Order: sequence, then structure tokens, then C-alpha cells
Amino acid sequence: PALSSAAAGDFLRCLSASVPSQLLLTPASPSFTSVLASSIRNPRFFTPGTMRPLCIVAAANASHVQAAVLCGRRHGVRLRVRSGGHDYEGLSYRSVRPEEFAVVDLAGLRFVRVDRAAATAWVDSGATVGELYYAAARADPQLAFPAGVCPTIGVGGHFSGGGIGMMMRKHGLSVDNVLDATLVDASGRILDRKAMGEDLFWAIRGGGGGSFGIVLSWKVRLVRVPLRVTAFTIQKTVAQGAIDAVTKWQTLAPALPDELTIRVVIQNQQARFQSLYLGTCDQLLPVMSSRFPELGMTRADCREMTWLQSVLYINSGSTGQPGEALLNRTTSLSTFTKNKSDYVKQAITRESWQKIFPWFNGPSAGLIILEPHGGQVSRIADGDTPYPHRSGVLYNIQHIAFWSGDGGTAATTWINGFYSFMGQFVTKNPRAAYVNYRDLDIGQNAVVGGVTSYDSGRVWGERYFGAANFKRLAITKGKMDPGDYFRNEQSVPPLVQTP
Ligand code: FDA
Repeated sequence: PALSSAAAGDFLRCLSASVPSQLLLTPASPSFTSVLASSIRNPRFFTPGTMRPLCIVAAANASHVQAAVLCGRRHGVRLRVRSGGHDYEGLSYRSVRPEEFAVVDLAGLRFVRVDRAAATAWVDSGATVGELYYAAARADPQLAFPAGVCPTIGVGGHFSGGGIGMMMRKHGLSVDNVLDATLVDASGRILDRKAMGEDLFWAIRGGGGGSFGIVLSWKVRLVRVPLRVTAFTIQKTVAQGAIDAVTKWQTLAPALPDELTIRVVIQNQQARFQSLYLGTCDQLLPVMSSRFPELGMTRADCREMTWLQSVLYINSGSTGQPGEALLNRTTSLSTFTKNKSDYVKQAITRESWQKIFPWFNGPSAGLIILEPHGGQVSRIADGDTPYPHRSGVLYNIQHIAFWSGDGGTAATTWINGFYSFMGQFVTKNPRAAYVNYRDLDIGQNAVVGGVTSYDSGRVWGERYFGAANFKRLAITKGKMDPGDYFRNEQSVPPLVQTP
């Protein structure tokens, strides 16, 4: 749809006073489409029908981000902030509703500065988690960071939503290891932790991206890992006992030593147990044979490697890639996906798994990934960060439907049917979900009198954050951005409390 109001022209003129023309791309710019596409992960939102931005501000420093906020507020143009572009619903670069908006693309702000002696790092939002992993290990092969599995995820969106990964049982979520941050607020000011105050610093560590301002950079605590870690992958078909193994895994995996994470991918009548052990094969074998003999793990399954190599191995299944592969930002636009999530607190029975497995039959069937909690991620209190899925959670389920080319009707029908079938087995009232596995089906905001209504936000917000955390997020939003400048289809609404 064409966007050409007077406000849009004023906005662009305002921006061009502060942002060099080569960093300010309008649809008329030759590189507009390639820059817009550069970090898009899901081609569902890169179609002729997708709302395109008025312009892209390819920020090269903090002042460009401040200018976007100040000009946007002055001329009534909203912003979508993009770090790594991996949002499952594309909210960092598209609007579901027809409105004028600009994209602030942070991909150019990606510096990682490691302080080896202090074991900390400042990382810009536009860096990928792969770049953070690489920089940490380069400074010291025994330094690492707990975050997601896919190396091209952006730090900005990932940290904004929590950050679950293969080391969360030992070290917690990404946000459990954030020490400071800098953010551009709705007035265009740059605030660090001290200046923003503890409520806002709490909110940006897991309360979802796009609600509170634009986070420029994060100071994180790096974690120590052994020089060699052990990864293994064991696959079981239903005929080989997949159902018994998954049934047992549910209560076993969250109770294993913190150093051992075993996640499960269920697809095509098979369960794939993907594991990372922060130790040697010799140390791991007795744990596996005493605690999980059903997997039949032997020394031949062990793959000892550096932690950095294990990231690449767990993501791609292949060994022997150089660490530099973590710096590759190229994304492919060939696979369309639709994702949903659940949490499980009470193990699903063997009989129920026998009914669940047949869903993974047929050409349109997708897959699920089960990620064990327990350990450090569950020792932190539900209210310490906005991520409330802590004590008592056995595991997270990510539901994934995927397809290529046009259509996707069969795959989306599959995921909707499967998600509805799974309702009986997972957390209820509310049925919990993970904000980084964003799903607009669980609710979208309504704007009433110029601001997002609290009641419309509660529908999806209490599922991501729990009632108490959601209310605290909304009160924080009400203090920091009462006019609701930073908003999208699932942004936290401002709850302004009258004394
Ligand atoms: P993107 O740039 O799309 O931003 C996501 C949201 O945050 C948007 O609303 C955006 O506006 C906002 N935002 C972005 N930058 C911001 C900033 N600097 N300040 C404020 N708001 C900002 N998750 C996980 O926990 N563990 C995992 O292992 C994986 N694995 C995974 C694999 C793949 C292939 C995908 C596509 C996704 C995942 N995820 C994941 C989910 C991932 O954590 C989630 O999509 C993140 O929000 C992505 O962050 P990006 O910066 O890439 O997203």
C-alpha cells in the first residue's frame, strides 16, 4: 500500500537533518528491498501484500536512533525496531494493520567488547548471538554465554524476550546474565541502568521487544566453560522405544545435573535427543548409564569438542566447521514457518504420547522441540525477571509448522489442530507461552482512545508473563511511555495508576 501523507514527508525531512542520506532508505532507493530483506527469516512477511515501511533508518550510531525517535514522535510516525529480524511474526519490520511506520535497523550496530579479566562483555543489539559466542571464545576459549541455539538470532530481540538455550540449566536465561544496558527512551534520551531505574531495567530483560524503547547495547556476565565439552545426538524411532524414552525424559531431564542438557526434537515418528554436557565423555558415560539407560548411549556417541564447536554442531548437526561460521549472517528465504509454544508442569502419560506421536505422520506434519527447564533457570524466582516459567516447569514445547513456496494451508491446518489437541496436556488458566516464540493467534492489542488498552493486552500478556509480571510491565510502561509511542500488535500497554 502506498504511504504518502504530509506527515511522512515532514518525518523524512526531519530525519535527513541528522541521518546521512546513504543510511536513510526510502522505497525509491535502489538498495531498499535488499536491505529490508537482509535479515528477514520468514518469507511469510515478505510478500507484495505485506505493509512496507516508509523508510529504513540503517543506524550507524546512537544519534541516528535518537533522531528516529525524536522525528517519529514529532511527526506521528511509529517505529519498528529490528536487530536480528528473527521475530516469528515479523513484528520488527512489518505492521499487521495499515499504518505509517519506519524501520530502525540496528544490524550495523554490532560491536562486541569483551573484558576478559572481568569476564563481562558489552554487546550491541545488532550483533547476532553467534558473534557474541565467537568474540567471547576468541578472548578466552573458556568464556561463553548462555543464549539460543540458532547463531543468527539478534541480541536485541533475543535478550528482550528472555533467551533460552542449551546452557540455561547451568547458567539461566540470557537475561539472567545481563548486568547493564543502554536504551533510547520515548523522549530520545539515552539511559543506562542507573538512569533508567530498576523497574525499567527489569522490564527490558524479558518483557518482550518493542515496548519500552530501543535498547542499544547490553552488558553481560560471561560464563566459564571447560576447554572440552561433550555433545551427542541419539535418535529413536517409535519401533525403537521413542515413546518410552520421551515419557521418561520429561521428569528426568529437568532433574539431571545442571551440566547436562538433553533436548528432544520429535518429527517423522522419531525422537532425536540432542545433548550438551559441560564435561568429558568419561564423566558423562556413568551419568547416562545410571540415569537414562533407555537411550543406550555408548562412548561411540560422544563427540568431544570446544564449546564454540558444540554451538555449530547442535545447530546444524555437522562437525568440523570453523568457528568463523558463527559470523555468517546469511539467511535463506526459502522456508516459511508458523510457531507456537507451551509449557508442561505435569508429565504427559505414556498413553497420551501414544496419541501424540501419530500427529507426526504425513507430508504436512511439522515438528516439536522440547527444552528442559530445572537447574538454574528454575531456581530464579518467577518475579525476578518478566520470564515467569521457572519453578515447577518441566519443559517448554515449541510447535513448528514449515513449508516452502506458496500456500502453507495444510501446514497451518496441521499446527492449529495439533495445538488444540495438546491443550489437554499442558499448562492451563492461562495456557502459558514464550514471548520469543511469538504467536499473534493468542491475542492482539486493541487501541482505545489513542493508547493500547490494558484489557486487550492481558489476553496474550498473562500467557507470556503471568498476571503479576504483566501488571508490573504495564505499570512500568505507563511511567516510561504513557502515550504509547512504542507499540505493536503485542506490545505492553501502559497502565497509568492514579494516586
Ligand atoms: P527482531 O529483530 O525480529 O526483533 C524481535 C522483537 O524485538 C521485535 O518486536 C522487535 O521490534 C524487538 N526488538 C528488536 N531489537 C530491539 C531492540 N534493540 N530494542 C527493543 N526492541 C527490539 N529463542 C530462544 O530463546 N532460543 C532459541 O534457541 C531460539 N532459536 C530460534 C531459531 C530461529 C531460526 C528463529 C527464527 C528464532 C529462534 N528463537 C529462539 C526466537 C528468538 O529468540 C526471537 O525471535 C528473538 O526475538 C529474535 O531476536 P531478533 O533480534 O533476531 O529479532
